[in-house]
Amino acid sequence: MGELQGKKFILGITGGIAAYKSAELLRLLVKAGAEVQVVLTEAGARFVTAVTYQALSGRPVWTDLWDPRADDNMAHIELGRDADAILVAPATADFIGRVAQGLAGDLLSTLCLAREAPLLLAPAMNRQMWENPATRRNIASVTADGIAILGPAAGDQACGEVGMGRMLEAEDLYEALVGFVRPKPLAGRRVLMTAGPTFEAIDPVRGITNLSSGKMGYALARALVHAGANVALVSGPVVLPVPAGVDRIPVRSAQEMHAAVMARVAGADVFIGVAAVADYRPRESQDHKLKKSGDVLHLELVPNPDILAEVAARPQPPFCVGFAAESRDLDRYAMGKLEAKRLRMVVGNLVQVGLGSDDNEVVIYDGAGRHPVPRDDKHRVAEAIVAHLAAALAAP
Ligand code: C5P
Repeated sequence: MGELQGKKFILGITGGIAAYKSAELLRLLVKAGAEVQVVLTEAGARFVTAVTYQALSGRPVWTDLWDPRADDNMAHIELGRDADAILVAPATADFIGRVAQGLAGDLLSTLCLAREAPLLLAPAMNRQMWENPATRRNIASVTADGIAILGPAAGDQACGEVGMGRMLEAEDLYEALVGFVRPKPLAGRRVLMTAGPTFEAIDPVRGITNLSSGKMGYALARALVHAGANVALVSGPVVLPVPAGVDRIPVRSAQEMHAAVMARVAGADVFIGVAAVADYRPRESQDHKLKKSGDVLHLELVPNPDILAEVAARPQPPFCVGFAAESRDLDRYAMGKLEAKRLRMVVGNLVQVGLGSDDNEVVIYDGAGRHPVPRDDKHRVAEAIVAHLAAALAAP
């Protein structure tokens, strides 16, 4: 199931070249299960036409305040009635000015004035327009009215200049919207977590590692940010984008991960160990590449620190959550870890299901027993874990 299943948005599109990004944003929203009604201004329709948005949203686009399709001729009231949010992207300088003034000369601006749903604007304009004192005043006044401004970003502009005013990319707007509609049960909570594998060097080009894509940990970090938490993610080597709003601390070995965690653990409300930490490392790593010979090579391994167990054993430990990826006997091993490491919660999965894949199926173990989370996309599973964590933190 998509992570925006059941959510309804109005996507307003005004006359800017960034409208091509809105087509992509629309596709992402629809793919995630959201219902999106596109409302286009006349100027907006000159850049990308209604045909594109209709095909992508699977529903007719609205432009006209006098559209006879609205039963009672109240499209400006009807359309926004049960929307979770109205996002105008791109929002031109002119449109923002009209919203600031409370003007309602066309369907989209009337809809914004008559709204009950929260309004978000993604400005898109040339650098001088963005910096103009009139625009600055309009932005200040819509912000004071409780309207959220997403972006803009700096960079190349369609007019050939470089500067502030580019509309955010479709993926950034998508992330902002998901974050916006999520409840915030973890607001003000500080979460420290680990994710990914560790790499224990044998020599400059070889090492011991665990198979771990980092996908579950990164999905969890993203869901934690969406729930309002302040997230520091100590991450082993992975090839994943850093979720928006996450403070990532890159490390390589278990010892580096251990040091990074210990340096930040004081003051954390929650610690979550998702990383697949290598249990052993070579006693010494060679400065130069080992050369091949016909002989048997002996590698002496020494144990790595158990980061999670050490955090949980602190005098005043944060709420500690462990992960257990097992190839069999999941209940027994996960429950064993809950007790042995003195954790508050363990999230267990069978490696046959979760490893490297975009889906996962987990069981949450805590003092009250086992709570299965059905197989789903890792982002949805992460949301379920965050909901369970938030409930546990709120319990007396
Ligand atoms: O390796 P093990 O199965 O014990 O891992 C269980 C939990 O402990 C995981 O959450 C893992 O991130 C954490 N762990 C750790 N440091 C280690 C080994 C495991 O934090 N050295």
